[in-house]
Amino acid sequence: CGIVGYIGQNDTKEILLDGLQKLEYRGYDSAGIAMLNENGVNLFKVKGRIATLRERVDHSIHATMGIGHTRWATHGVPSEENAHPHQSASGRFTLVHNGVIENYQAIKDAYLSDVDFASETDTEIVVQLIEKLFAELGDTPAAFRKAMGLLKGSYAIGMIDNKDKETFYVAKNKSPLLVGLGDGFNVVASDAMATLKVTDQYLEIHDQEIVLVHRDQVEIQDLSGTVLEREPYTAQIDASDIEKGTYPHFMLKEIDEQPFVMRKIINEYQTEDSELKLDKNVRQAMKDCDRIYIIAAGTSYHAGLVGKAFIEKLANIPVEVHIASEFSYNMPLLSVKPLFIFISQSGETADSRAVLVRIKEMGHPALTITNVPGSTLSREADYTLNLYAGPEIAVASTKAYTAQIAVLAILAVDTAKAKCLELDFDPMQELAIVANAMEVLTDQKETIEELARDYLSKTRNAFFIGRSTDYYVCMEAALKLKEISYIQAEGFAGGELKHGTIALIEEGTPVIAISTQENVNYSIRGNVQEVVARGANDMVISMKGLEQDTDAFVIPQVHELLTPLVSVVPMQLLAYYAALHRDCDVDKPRNLAKSVTVE
Ligand code: G6P
Repeated sequence: CGIVGYIGQNDTKEILLDGLQKLEYRGYDSAGIAMLNENGVNLFKVKGRIATLRERVDHSIHATMGIGHTRWATHGVPSEENAHPHQSASGRFTLVHNGVIENYQAIKDAYLSDVDFASETDTEIVVQLIEKLFAELGDTPAAFRKAMGLLKGSYAIGMIDNKDKETFYVAKNKSPLLVGLGDGFNVVASDAMATLKVTDQYLEIHDQEIVLVHRDQVEIQDLSGTVLEREPYTAQIDASDIEKGTYPHFMLKEIDEQPFVMRKIINEYQTEDSELKLDKNVRQAMKDCDRIYIIAAGTSYHAGLVGKAFIEKLANIPVEVHIASEFSYNMPLLSVKPLFIFISQSGETADSRAVLVRIKEMGHPALTITNVPGSTLSREADYTLNLYAGPEIAVASTKAYTAQIAVLAILAVDTAKAKCLELDFDPMQELAIVANAMEVLTDQKETIEELARDYLSKTRNAFFIGRSTDYYVCMEAALKLKEISYIQAEGFAGGELKHGTIALIEEGTPVIAISTQENVNYSIRGNVQEVVARGANDMVISMKGLEQDTDAFVIPQVHELLTPLVSVVPMQLLAYYAALHRDCDVDKPRNLAKSVTVE
């Protein structure tokens, strides 16, 4: 979910609607805004997108203070009633929330048994609780603080008290929220991207803090009411990076940006003398550990699988890769000197953060590899490596995946050098070759669009098969296709298919094979023959040097360790064009959110 708020001199409507539009990647099943003026609170809520909200809002209303929310449903179906903002019984308090209140039932039972609820959300519990506590304490800040102290779980909250046009109430625990500072106005947002148009000065809010945001001043307090001081920082995002420009979709723009991202990474991680440039503390942590635990979700998990191969092969350190949401409940036996590496585009994924909190309690070191330097996972880990991919807006991750793999390759080589290991691999030179190869591929969109039309525009399902590193890319390719075209797709290890899944192959089932590794080229082609014999519609994507005449597509040759960076590009484009041919919403696929800040 995404939150945005404004208090200042100007009309708030456009700032809220524009901010919410920028936050739509966080969820878009329902949305709402509340604006306070001399007539009280003006509330508008819709099921659906911000565009629908924009149509619903009465544009003649003028207000200089307001809050907005775009939702990714957790408690309660997407509907107008469940959309935020929610109001207390008397209507005095209006509140938006991102996160999950774990003890909502206990609070309901203890404090709110006599209240009639208008929605099914855990959020409404919070606003009703504040009203109850206000009745007891007679002071809004005190009631707000006390309520926050009673909540268990994750929350980022923005609240308006309709009797006070000078204060906007904000609180945070585990879910992201920032205060943006302006001249005569202040804003609140889940992500600086939402309000970058009006300010680049931001204040971090820490867990279990509240902020009283006024027009020309903000006051941070802890839950006991003690005032805290904090310096603002400048958000390092360029406003033009978050616009589509001439592209029809962010996803296509971001696929095309990958060669530039590779070159940016080469520049950022290299000194003028062409030496690798990495934080020396990261280098030391890598040298000191006896095993690495990579923790990630979704596409970042798939990048982690590729990273494991680099670190094990080049730096000679054993690596385990874990799905964040499984790790805490199913923790493996840890080695004596573990190092945790969190891979996350957004740096906000709650499942990963839960693991980070847990392992920090256990006293283990953590490195975060992220695209968002000031993000929660970055702030709370001991070390951070940046991806330098620029904002990624499309829900389906593309350039962050390739950036993650490139940075992991650099990290592995740096460690190998620090450990004085024998090495015959210059990552910068090889990444430069990758960047050129990516360019060759992004220039072949027409060919890939045709393949997508022929193979994927009508199908119910599709399989991706590969061996070794190609298998990891198959998992990512299948995820991309599922996410945006809703085709049931699976990535399989070529050799494993015959142990069950081959039963799903029917006449015409698309099977897409990736072959970029010499040592498995022969065997993966054997697997292709097995499915063709059972009626599959095969498409082989191979690397130059390993190709056969019947292959559908040949990718330029790159170093065998880095092939995922290149082979994934046609996979991303296949998914993109398949989604277009099936009339799907590429940038905002159903049911998903880009940044999932609930566990
Ligand atoms: C969400 C997105 C995925 C993403 C995953 C991990 O589920 O829809 O595209 O890969 O989160 O996100 P992160 O920001 O941690 O890389």
